[in-house]
Amino acid sequence: MNAPVVAVDGPSGSGKGTVCRRVARRQSWHLLDSGALYRLVALSGQLAGLAADDIAGHVALGRSMRAEFRVTPAGDERIELDGRDVTRLARAEEIGQCASRVASWPEVRSALLERQRAFAVPPGLIADGRDMGTVVFTSAALKIFLTASPKERILRRYNQLKDKDSGVSLDAVSREIVERDLRDSTRGVAPLRPSSDAFVIDSTGMAVDAVVERVIELGRARALWR
Ligand code: C5P
Repeated sequence: MNAPVVAVDGPSGSGKGTVCRRVARRQSWHLLDSGALYRLVALSGQLAGLAADDIAGHVALGRSMRAEFRVTPAGDERIELDGRDVTRLARAEEIGQCASRVASWPEVRSALLERQRAFAVPPGLIADGRDMGTVVFTSAALKIFLTASPKERILRRYNQLKDKDSGVSLDAVSREIVERDLRDSTRGVAPLRPSSDAFVIDSTGMAVDAVVERVIELGRARALWR
């Protein structure tokens, strides 16, 4: 590994994405949104008209797809797949569900392994996912497992999706989150769980700023930044 890595894992709606983005921006470090890679594999499969269970097709797509993560001048995230802006499509809960099914195949996970490790370049990487500390960056300088109560995670995800889609229902989000977390934490390969050397942060009732400060403090204690 040629640059320090902060591995941040946790279930859906734990606030990892927002926290990682803020910490990366504040320290001017790189960011890996590994969930977006799984979402893009799922999306490329759908766009290519593949059946969700066509494992071989997804493995090949995981290796060959051209994925770009940009920030627009206005500060918004932009995800491109083979040159096309797919930000909205990739963030839909339906693609999150499909990504979670695709992510349970070991072949897909290993196809994405080196691609993820390549993000670790100086000055450092904030890596957001489910298996950053347990599989992809086992020797990360700092490992964090970010969680929150199921009720709070469902509400956070609901509020996030509601901004983009007025038709979204709390019941549906609740069912989807419970289903996705169960699949992610019980799968045979790289199940979601805290690494034994991870700091667990329960962000229930905590403001995002407070969680960001806690991560910054932990990084400071490890001399990752000043
Ligand atoms: O984090 P996000 O909701 O974008 O992730 C979508 C899905 O991708 C997760 O539900 C999970 O199944 C999968 N994933 C994974 N390993 C990661 C990141 C995401 O299996 N490191």
